[in-house]
Amino acid sequence: MLVFGGTGDLALHKLLPALYHLHRDGRLHEGTRILALARSPITRAAYQAQAQRRCRAQVARADFDAATWASFAERLDYFQIDASQSADFSRLARHLGPVGERVQVYYLATAPNLFEDIARHLKTSGLAGPNSRIVIEKPIGHSLESAKAINAAIGAVFDESRVFRIDHYLGKETVQNLMALRFANMLFEPLWRSGHIDHVQISVCETLGVENRGAYYDRSGAMRDMVQNHLLQLLCLVAMEAPAQFNAESVRDEKLKILQALKPIQGMDVHDKTVRGQYTAGKIGGQEVPAYYFEKNVDNDSDTETFVALQVAINTWRWAGVPFYLRTGKRLAKKTSEIVIHFKQVPHLLFDNTQPNRLIIRLQPEERISLQLMGKTPGKGMRLAPVELDLNLAQAFRQKRRWDAYERLLLDVIEGDSTLFMRRDEVEAAWKWVDPILKGWQDNYQDPRPYAAGSNGPEQAQSLLELQGRKWAE
Ligand code: BG6
Repeated sequence: MLVFGGTGDLALHKLLPALYHLHRDGRLHEGTRILALARSPITRAAYQAQAQRRCRAQVARADFDAATWASFAERLDYFQIDASQSADFSRLARHLGPVGERVQVYYLATAPNLFEDIARHLKTSGLAGPNSRIVIEKPIGHSLESAKAINAAIGAVFDESRVFRIDHYLGKETVQNLMALRFANMLFEPLWRSGHIDHVQISVCETLGVENRGAYYDRSGAMRDMVQNHLLQLLCLVAMEAPAQFNAESVRDEKLKILQALKPIQGMDVHDKTVRGQYTAGKIGGQEVPAYYFEKNVDNDSDTETFVALQVAINTWRWAGVPFYLRTGKRLAKKTSEIVIHFKQVPHLLFDNTQPNRLIIRLQPEERISLQLMGKTPGKGMRLAPVELDLNLAQAFRQKRRWDAYERLLLDVIEGDSTLFMRRDEVEAAWKWVDPILKGWQDNYQDPRPYAAGSNGPEQAQSLLELQGRKWAE
């Protein structure tokens, strides 16, 4: 595995700890080698020391010990490279020597402006042989056009079956459990449609701000950073039809159909069905935090959104008339990621206080699926209250360590299984839907609505639902 951007945050914070865990669990082939590549002129020992520090901070104390680290470090090497220089790739090819039958995984944990260069240089230096695979992370472009250019450049070197586009949300256990829930249980299928479901909410709320990623984030914003990928992928998994088989092509064919069935949001709909916000100063967990435009490397009069709420329609028989409300933001009151399926009210009310059932699929902070049903409270009369039927996944499988999303995904890349990765046409269909919203914001010059850090987002996001007699599940 060759990790470009080997000294960057993604490599040190996510990829190496995930590989360490896989090594510790005996999941890596004994011949697996990891070569970190970056521009810094440092030695193998210096790199290993840096990696050890970061892994120790990332891995649970009970899982980290010197002997396991030492055996992991034997796999880990460092190579200095300037990814824009083709000569450096010839040097790399000589360093690697003949690869024979070995699988090579090129993980591009770099800024996306290097993707095209790296792919081209891998080809010209003879490193993109039939056993090689390439992994790229979002942002895959900032618009449909730029995404197509990246996909074309990568596609000119690697055929689609060897391109792995990571969306780490698909590696999360609860997200895969959503597929198990839908496609391995008869219970929900008859109800999983318009007629029984009133609406669906998908929220990914964070308390963090932009940390030290201001330069990237200010050019991106919540729509490109979260909605175009993570939220739309979650929506696809909720809304897709059952695939004929659980394999890469069937699953991705079904997801693609949903992306293609999203009703475009353009013209006045951008005004009526979208809300964009930006956080101002406030308090998170008792701590004062600055406004977005005072964050490091952010423009002082930035109009980048740190919050988005959307009302989305899917033009299919199953989902006709069922709104999907999507919401994501930084510096919100609490960190939660969840999908809430709101069922319809019973057709005839026998008891006061009957509330519609809700199925809550929680990804974070805890992994949990719960079904809210109405029950009778003890004592006289028929006084009802919601009670939860709870599937606590961490508890149910407590003997098993919870895998980080990257562990699962890295292993899938090594094994060549792309079921949980985004196909080229999916990424492009998602941009095709997102672009008109971005354009609408730009054309109408809709400034982001301010919201205080530590709040639930701008008021307009509440009204988006309230005007239709609904409210966000907090
Ligand atoms: C990343 C975004 O893809 O996902 C970040 O770039 C965001 O801005 C992160 O904070 C959220 O991931 P998670 O796994 O913490 O929900």
